[in-house]
Amino acid sequence: MSIAINPLGNGFAAEIGGIDLRGTNDDAIVAEIWRAIDEFSVVVFRDQALTDAELRDFAERFGPLEIGRAAARPGRRRLSIPQIGDISNLNEDHQVRDLFDRRRLDSLGNRLWHTDASYMPVPVVLGMLHAVTLPPPSAFGNGETEFADMRAAYDALPNGTKAAVNDLIVEHDVFWSRAQVGFTEFPQGERDQYPPSPQRLVRTHPGSKRKTLYLSAHASHIVGWPVADGRLLLLDLNTHATQSRFIYRHEWHKGDLVIWDNRCTMHRGRPHDETKARDLRRATTLDQGSTLHEAA
Ligand code: OGA
Ligand code: MN
Repeated sequence: MSIAINPLGNGFAAEIGGIDLRGTNDDAIVAEIWRAIDEFSVVVFRDQALTDAELRDFAERFGPLEIGRAAARPGRRRLSIPQIGDISNLNEDHQVRDLFDRRRLDSLGNRLWHTDASYMPVPVVLGMLHAVTLPPPSAFGNGETEFADMRAAYDALPNGTKAAVNDLIVEHDVFWSRAQVGFTEFPQGERDQYPPSPQRLVRTHPGSKRKTLYLSAHASHIVGWPVADGRLLLLDLNTHATQSRFIYRHEWHKGDLVIWDNRCTMHRGRPHDETKARDLRRATTLDQGSTLHEAA
C-alpha cells in the first residue's frame, strides 16, 4: 500500500491521503510517514476517527510516549489514558471551563508560539493532535493552530547571525511561558517538579540533516548572558521566525489528525469562542537525549 502526499501552502506542510490510521501496524507505512515528516515538518490526515486508545497505539509506533504536565497531576481527570493529552477547554465533568478556571488559564500559554515541553531535560519529538469537537466560528478566531518552519527560518538568517547563535545555550522554563500570559498560580510542588532546562539554540534535525532554530515561549534567556540581553535576542529571533512566509495555518475539521515535529517547528493555538467546547486529543513522542549532547 502506498500513501498519497500533497504539499499544502508554502510546502512546509503536506496532506497525506489514502490511509485509515486505525490499527496501522505496517512498518512500511510508518516508515513512509516518517519520511514525509522529515521532509515537511507538518503532516495532515483527514477523516480519521480514532479513539484515545487507537491514537495511543498509532502514536506508539513512532516512539515512547510522554505523560504531560496536566496528566501527571494528582486528582480526577477527564481522559483515562495518561499518554493522551487533554487539549480542550473541558473539565473533569465534560463541562466548558469557567473563564477564570486555573487549568484553562495555564493552557492559554499554548496561544504563544512554542515547541512542546522544551522545559524538560529530554524534550519531545512528534506532536499528534486529533480533532474530536470544534467550536463554531467566532469574531476572535476559530481555534486554528498555526505552525512555523524553524528550518526555513534558520536558513534565512544572515550568515553572521548563524555563526553568532550556533553554539548558544538557552534556558527553557515553563514558568516563564506562563508568566507571559499572567499565569503564576502553579499548583503546589510544580516549581520543583519542572525546573528549567538548558537546550541548544541551533540543532541539526536528524531526519533531514538541516539546521533548525529551537525556539519556544518557554525559552527564557541565554545561559551566561545577562537575562535582558538574552531575552531581547530571543525576541528578535522569534519575530524573524514567525513571519507569514514561514507559517502554515491549520483550519480544523472534525476527524483531522495533524502530526508535527517539535524539533524543527513552533506552533500556537488561536482564539475561539470560549463558551463552546473545543476538544482535541494529543499524543506526543519522547526524544532520546538532551539537546546538549547533539552536535551543532
Ligand atoms: C498543543 C498545542 C494548540 C491548539 O496541543 O500542543 O499547543 O491549537 N495546541 O490547541
Ligand atoms: Mn503545544
